[in-house]
Amino acid sequence: MIDRLRRNMDLGDGELAFLMETDERERDLFEAGDAVRRENYGVDVYIRGLIEFTNHCKNDCLYCGIRAGNSRAKRYRLDADRILACCGEGYELGFRTFVLQGGEDPHYTDGMICGIVSEIKRNHGDCAVTLSLGERSFESYRAFFESGADRYLLRHETASDEHYRRLHPRSMSPGSRKRCLWDLKEIGYQVGSGFMVGSPYQTTEDLVSDLRFLQELQPSMIGIGPYLTHKDTPFRDFPNGSLKVCLRLIAILRLMFPYALIPATTALGTIAPDGRELGLSVGANVVMPNLSPVAVRRLYGLYDNKICTGDEAAECRMCLQRRVEAAGYRIAIHRGDVKKAGPRGVAV
Ligand code: 5AD
Ligand code: FES
Repeated sequence: MIDRLRRNMDLGDGELAFLMETDERERDLFEAGDAVRRENYGVDVYIRGLIEFTNHCKNDCLYCGIRAGNSRAKRYRLDADRILACCGEGYELGFRTFVLQGGEDPHYTDGMICGIVSEIKRNHGDCAVTLSLGERSFESYRAFFESGADRYLLRHETASDEHYRRLHPRSMSPGSRKRCLWDLKEIGYQVGSGFMVGSPYQTTEDLVSDLRFLQELQPSMIGIGPYLTHKDTPFRDFPNGSLKVCLRLIAILRLMFPYALIPATTALGTIAPDGRELGLSVGANVVMPNLSPVAVRRLYGLYDNKICTGDEAAECRMCLQRRVEAAGYRIAIHRGDVKKAGPRGVAV
């Protein structure tokens, strides 16, 4: 079954569900994930400097610690100069991609975002800029792209409409999330999407739908991580997602999307001390060390017990380098664009 998945980059729904749920084929699945990542990317691990520039958010996702309804969250915003300073520091540390991530914060107008993006590109012409600011209009996305943004991360969170509605307030809709992803593709971004593993009410069938949606979208980047509880959300009593299922999904994603950029996420590193290394060993090929100022790190609290909140950018960078190398891989110093996807996802 795993050979067939590797050859065809696809399996039937029942077979995919079986691979997610069973222990039995796990070893072979993990080995195949690593083999396919090596075929396409060798031992290279791409790094992205993550700048969490605002934890204000107008949305109220039921799982998220920075939801508008969490009055216990202490809010912050970084101004353009702070963001540019983080990029300057990151450049010295070898980052050639900067990811500007934040809650959905209307304080940052299109003009402000465009100004920040074009200034980063002016200072660091050899770098890629990735935005991750949630849902905006087609026109806003286009303006960001025209001012130099290269990539956009927007997880679909769950492809099942019914499940989406259980995770989000009525003001948010699965249709509008998917519309945004198609808009981003049409404009020309390298698009990243993804989903949480083990979020409340999620079934294995929902996870199969996530894979099917990604097959339609054909994103360049796919970010997944376990759902993690935050004590100040309505989902406080739901358990964390499973490390094992998350690792199986990373391996499955690698076999279905051989070319994709798949991060070993902070959530994976939070659920287990060696979670990110395990992610790399089954098919992930990206890590995203934190470049945010230490003073605000703790405040970007999507979930409890988030790692790396006390470390300076340089410490995070070196810590990850050690971890990547100990796991048998090597950090690559360049923009780390996706290898172009051919028909049916074959790297060319
Ligand atoms: N646990 C795990 N991941 C979360 N995210 C948000 N809240 C949580 C949580 N409680 C993820 C979402 C979002 C990304 C930035 O972080 O998938 O898209
Ligand atoms: Fe901010 Fe969900 S709470 S996007």
